[in-house]
Amino acid sequence: MVTDPSKPVIAATCPQQVTLPAGSTTAYCTCGRSQQGVYCDGAHRGTHFRPSIIQVDETTTATLCQCRHSANLPYCDGSHQTLV
Ligand code: FES
Repeated sequence: MVTDPSKPVIAATCPQQVTLPAGSTTAYCTCGRSQQGVYCDGAHRGTHFRPSIIQVDETTTATLCQCRHSANLPYCDGSHQTLV
């Protein structure tokens, strides 16, 4: 599938809840092209997108955006509801 490299891919129109372990660093996919869902796999190469790094000190449950239209990336802000 050919997609405009200037725009994020809408991977899903619902958020994904994840548990981030204490002391972990996670690279969140901002381009929507990752084959690993919300986790960066390097698929942003060739675009202006870069992963967003999430670091947590304590085990944290996070609701991560999969539509990449949130104004509060990497977290869902409900913007996906305007896309469906
Ligand atoms: S999944 Fe993107 S704003 Fe909710």
